[in-house]
Amino acid sequence: MRAAQVSKLEGPEAIEIVDIPEPASQAGAVVIDVHAAGVAFPDVLMTRGLYQMKPELPFVVGGEVAGIVREAPEDAHVRPGDRVLALTLLGNAMAEVAVAPVQMVFRLPDNISLEAGAGILFNDLTVHFCLRNRGRLAAGETVLVHGAAGGIGTSTLRMAGALGAGRVIAVVSTEEKAAVARANGATNVVLTDGWLAAVKELTGGRGVDIVLDPVGGDRFTDSIRSLASAGRLLVVGFTAGEIPIVKVNRLLLKNVEVVGAAWGEWVLTHPGYLQEQWAEVEPLLAAGKIAPPQPVVYPLEQAAAAVASLDNRTATGKVVVTLR
Ligand SMILES: NC(=O)c1ccc[n+]([C@@H]2O[C@H](COP(=O)([O-])OP(=O)(O)OC[C@H]3O[C@@H](n4cnc5c(N)ncnc54)[C@H](OP(=O)(O)O)[C@@H]3O)[C@@H](O)[C@H]2O)c1
Repeated sequence: MRAAQVSKLEGPEAIEIVDIPEPASQAGAVVIDVHAAGVAFPDVLMTRGLYQMKPELPFVVGGEVAGIVREAPEDAHVRPGDRVLALTLLGNAMAEVAVAPVQMVFRLPDNISLEAGAGILFNDLTVHFCLRNRGRLAAGETVLVHGAAGGIGTSTLRMAGALGAGRVIAVVSTEEKAAVARANGATNVVLTDGWLAAVKELTGGRGVDIVLDPVGGDRFTDSIRSLASAGRLLVVGFTAGEIPIVKVNRLLLKNVEVVGAAWGEWVLTHPGYLQEQWAEVEPLLAAGKIAPPQPVVYPLEQAAAAVASLDNRTATGKVVVTLR
């Protein structure tokens, strides 16, 4: 089968398209004919050996797929021929055939294409975990998201309203990304330059209830400043590179929280949580209450460029690689 493979840790440009044997079927796993695979920031980090998961070289890129079931265990909830989306957590996704643990495979709602389906699980379930579990989003609250035109960002814009938010403010670095944020459902969009003053003005000086931050870096202290009393700042990632340091007096002064939100850790330590999440998110997707992603699509041959677009900050929305 064809696959996008990393054999040296030299960044996304070193991803090669290779012919390798198909994976063998395994007990308790589903074999999937992959139509599309999602790209996420951890894929960038893994091409340099900088992610917490460090598979042996060579490895196949990507952690999520959508496709058609080829083989499933007798007692599985999916059957050969079903349209599914699945997590391979992490690696082994950008290949014509993938194998995923049965509990990480879900039926794709009929109203969602396989390309869009490949962009759902990783980001949408992270955002669901962030807003519901770690952020304790209450009805009508205001959510602000940094990197709002990225994968996690567009997921937040697509989902926050359906999960109860009254308003979602997007922070983006360019006008082109502002248009992407609007198309994904932002109530308001502000540019990174001067974002704190703009948000204070938009909220009449009150601030926001939740900041979902996949970016980190030097805007972190301003994110604390942007919170309303009892607000929560969710630490999701560090695409800006620098890991911020918090002066905890700022938390005390305004009664605010800085909360870690690592979805993968939670899923691996809380059996059944993934199924609980899907049971809430799937009907919202199927009913169109959460719009499907509008992915930027690359063919497998351009997998290196697809992953590089997250590295060089040019990606607008969720990026997906097609295999068929
Ligand atoms: N905690 C969890 O459970 C979890 C789960 C999934 C992902 N993550 C993390 O969430 C983060 C975002 O992932 P993603 O897939 O949404 O990434 P993405 O699609 O590349 O979006 C990231 C956004 O970060 C902003 N950014 C600021 N400085 C940047 C820089 N120097 N390089 C690249 N982007 C920069 C960009 O927006 P602007 O240009 O508008 O600033 C970009 O759109 C990653 O750190 C990832 O590891 C965490």
